[in-house]
Amino acid sequence: MKTTKVKAKTKTVAAQRSSLPSSSQQSQQSSQQMRGGRLRHLIGICGLPRAQILRLFARADVFARARAQNKLPRPLAGKLIVNIFFESSTRTRTAFEASARQLGADVLNLDRITMAGETKNESLADTVRTVAAMGAAGIVLRHGEAGAAEEAMRAAPKTTAIINGGDGNNAHPTQGLSDAYTVRERYGESFSGLAIAIVGDILNSRVARSDARIFRALGAEDIRLVGPPKLCPQTMEKELRAKVTHDMDEGISGADVVVLLRMQRERAGKALFPSAAKYFREYGMTMRRLQTLTAKKRDAMIMHPGPINRGAEIESAVADGKHSYILRQITNGMAVRMATLAELLCEK
Ligand code: CP
Repeated sequence: MKTTKVKAKTKTVAAQRSSLPSSSQQSQQSSQQMRGGRLRHLIGICGLPRAQILRLFARADVFARARAQNKLPRPLAGKLIVNIFFESSTRTRTAFEASARQLGADVLNLDRITMAGETKNESLADTVRTVAAMGAAGIVLRHGEAGAAEEAMRAAPKTTAIINGGDGNNAHPTQGLSDAYTVRERYGESFSGLAIAIVGDILNSRVARSDARIFRALGAEDIRLVGPPKLCPQTMEKELRAKVTHDMDEGISGADVVVLLRMQRERAGKALFPSAAKYFREYGMTMRRLQTLTAKKRDAMIMHPGPINRGAEIESAVADGKHSYILRQITNGMAVRMATLAELLCEK
């Protein structure tokens, strides 16, 4: 088996792509499910049937209600969850840690500084096997390389579930689930009539990929990818079965949901747009744009997976305004992570 050295260097986007051919995306998705369809790992959104997504949402509803009433059950008592994060994270790591602990699990956190691979050249597969041998029922992995979560899944024994906490520009399935859950909370389970615009650095974004795929899986037909040609190339249309436009005002016109993304500088490794001011002028979500949008769509949702860069892709007044669901996405992310952990770890 090809193994990734834990000393993870972020690959170029081209290299990441070549490490994850589209046939691999198909196989990754079938192997994350057991025979009969139940989820064994969560690596990506590809291939997740609508019914399975809705089942996770129904579970999240139960946890969200119990959490609000301070009556959470402890179905993960006695189980060990290990967060292995090769890249920084505020939301994902903390949401998984808090969710797991609130459901009774023991949680350990490994990051690049504390892992032997960083200085002793251990492969990702060996790190996964090592942590699994300590009895980890679940590993949440964040990694700079696309395909790393699939590699971890292949290395893991049957007793350890792998959850992708974001791998390169490939997938961030629990962010996609949290975002779709937030849209469902506002508009209901039928996404078929919704117009959804995803705006920004689509090319380098795992969130854009997971969001577009989950919105499509839930029935959305009008999905627009909006950004400058270099960050939102025409090829994305085929990859994500969505319409590409380079004109922000056209792209968000009549949208029920606008998902904003930050520049993924850590993946592209260089300036992604000639000038920050020009980017904000052409693609920033300003109050002026929001007013134009809400003149037609009174209830339009403004979303962002975070971290947000105020004044770069979103005006502060929009981020803090009444159309913003940014903090709601975070709150919902707790219930979604609880549902994911329970789904993978409680019915084996
Ligand atoms: N949205 C997201 O993945 O944020 P973090 O990098 O803080 O986990």
